[in-house]
Amino acid sequence: MDDLKNGQRSAVSGQKTGKNIVFSVERLSYKYPDGTHALSGINLEVTKGTFAGLLGANGSGKTTLLRVMDGLMKTFDGSVFLEGVDIRKLTPREIYKKVGLVFQNPDDQLFAPTLLDDVAFGPLNMGFNAKEVKSRVLNALAEVELSGLEKKSVHNLSFGQRKRACIAGLLAMGHEILLLDEPTAGLDPMGEYRMMKLLQKLNRENGVTIVMATHSVDLVPVFLDRLYILSKGRITRGGAPEEVFDAPEDMANIKLRLPHIAELIYKLKHEDKVNFDRVPLTIGEARREILKVIERR
Ligand SMILES: Nc1ncnc2c1ncn2[C@@H]1O[C@H](COP(=O)(O)OP(=O)(O)O)[C@@H](O)[C@H]1O
Ligand SMILES: [Mg+2]
Repeated sequence: MDDLKNGQRSAVSGQKTGKNIVFSVERLSYKYPDGTHALSGINLEVTKGTFAGLLGANGSGKTTLLRVMDGLMKTFDGSVFLEGVDIRKLTPREIYKKVGLVFQNPDDQLFAPTLLDDVAFGPLNMGFNAKEVKSRVLNALAEVELSGLEKKSVHNLSFGQRKRACIAGLLAMGHEILLLDEPTAGLDPMGEYRMMKLLQKLNRENGVTIVMATHSVDLVPVFLDRLYILSKGRITRGGAPEEVFDAPEDMANIKLRLPHIAELIYKLKHEDKVNFDRVPLTIGEARREILKVIERR
């Protein structure tokens, strides 16, 4: 999609060059054994350090795409390269060392009796010694603001805490790339905001490359560098969030709406002919745009 030009194919078959490209997905199609075409002709490029979102209604193919990108489903058509290497040529262990997938439902991911055991499982399995495991676990729990709850049973954590616990489990393994399936689904508005702030911090301060699936239009896109709209297994739009939200009819066609703020400004601009330069996504930006219009009058 963007920056395709950086990823020139090398002479070695199945290899791609281009250091900063983490994922390169080309003409990807996926059909489930029952004949459902879940993905059709997906082109997507994720550069290192990006915070990208896949936005789509239920059934649009978000989970399928993340599972293919995590190497869990290999019977696809087209190509998926992870840091330049054909993902079909990598072993699960090689993928697992780099890429962590956080499931939508934390209860599909958490399994150990206590939070500490759960977060320690990954690094233990990677062969780190006890001291290293402990320090990784404590750091990861601090990152996701769960310090002090180490001994608690995962069943007794709140839903939001369980979602953060899943992320801690992957951070403790040192993942540079996180794929998250609807990390804010099921959280209350404050929980959604805190989750996005946490992911933003991991992205900006720890340099973690993030691709997250979501159907949240109001809050999530504000945090993203790149946003891809998925509809019926196809990417229909991609770009910076404010570019993507510039076409309300498109969004309605694919059963999504514009963020409330964007919709208000869009209507003022197109129906009431108020002269806005751009369609903002946050209250702060909208306020500045409105003040500019007032000043001009
Ligand atoms: N295991 C499966 N077998 C058959 N069809 C599936 C399976 N999982 C998902 N699908 C279908 O694939 C399409 C995409 O699903 P999914 O990737 O789960 O979408 P999303 O995550 O955006 O809700 C849907 O039509 C869904 O019904
Ligand atoms: Mg899904």
